[in-house]
Amino acid sequence: MRKIWLDTDPGFDDWLTMLLLQADTALDWLGTSVVAGNAPLEATLDNALRIQQHFALTAPIYAGCERPLMGRSETAQNILGVQGMRSTGVPLPATTLVPEGTHAVHALIDAVRRHPGEITIVAIAPLTNIATALAQAPDIAPLIAEIVLMGGSTDQGNHTAAAEFNIYADPEAANRVFRSGVPLRMFGLNLCRQIRIRQTEVQRIQSIGKPRADWMAGYLDAYQRIASADGALPMPLYDPVVALYLAWPELFQFQSAHVDIELAGTYTRGMTVCEFRVPRRAPPNAEVAMSIDGPRALGLLMDRLAALLS
Ligand code: RIB
Ligand code: CA
Repeated sequence: MRKIWLDTDPGFDDWLTMLLLQADTALDWLGTSVVAGNAPLEATLDNALRIQQHFALTAPIYAGCERPLMGRSETAQNILGVQGMRSTGVPLPATTLVPEGTHAVHALIDAVRRHPGEITIVAIAPLTNIATALAQAPDIAPLIAEIVLMGGSTDQGNHTAAAEFNIYADPEAANRVFRSGVPLRMFGLNLCRQIRIRQTEVQRIQSIGKPRADWMAGYLDAYQRIASADGALPMPLYDPVVALYLAWPELFQFQSAHVDIELAGTYTRGMTVCEFRVPRRAPPNAEVAMSIDGPRALGLLMDRLAALLS
């Protein structure tokens, strides 16, 4: 069993990832740290607890950092709404659950120290929690097996022309993680744009006709319509690509690179600058996902999702 720790800012695509991780019997999911990102921490934590209750997630949930290491807080609420995820159907009901009492950073440090060399951190949010853990406990860097992260891009951004949201929301945290020496596997927008959902995928979930599928269908529909309100344009799948990698790594092709995080650029702050001429030009610090058989991957994902919602 591969031990994993999830760091997340739910977010619909985070929620989809959580369901896929829960359904992957090859994973031992130790814990979940929640961070501000798609929305302020109060909303992302509430979303995580609602998902935990209504979809019977078993990993303990810890509240993490509320703001980036430096600068002002950045969210995606302008696109995703106040709660950080929208539905065109019935919203997820409220929850009575509360997070664990320990701060997420301390829980993550403790988990890594208890399982040296064994934990893959699955990072699908701004990297504030992970960077803070590395700063508070430098001893854990060599104890982390790998960080598998959805973030960055080898080409265009999404939150700005140059930067992907998870990196843009806390570039200083990303810089600390990419310079930490921890083995990194980066799934950027260049990869995510090869796996795109259409209204056909939404209709497949709508046709299941079970309460949990109905909740999921409404949020999936709203997510798919981010690309175009009428749903005509396909929408990339972001966070679930890391769950696809953990389940079917053979789907992906990677290239070694040295990735730097732009911190100062007026128009480029938060950009992941990927130097592929390694080690000649620079020492490699990440394996960057470059290609995938998108239709095949989407079919596997939808089959697994439909099965767990039926
Ligand atoms: O750019 C996509 C990323 O930003 C995803 O993790 C999504 O959930 C948002 O956090
Ligand atoms: Ca996310």
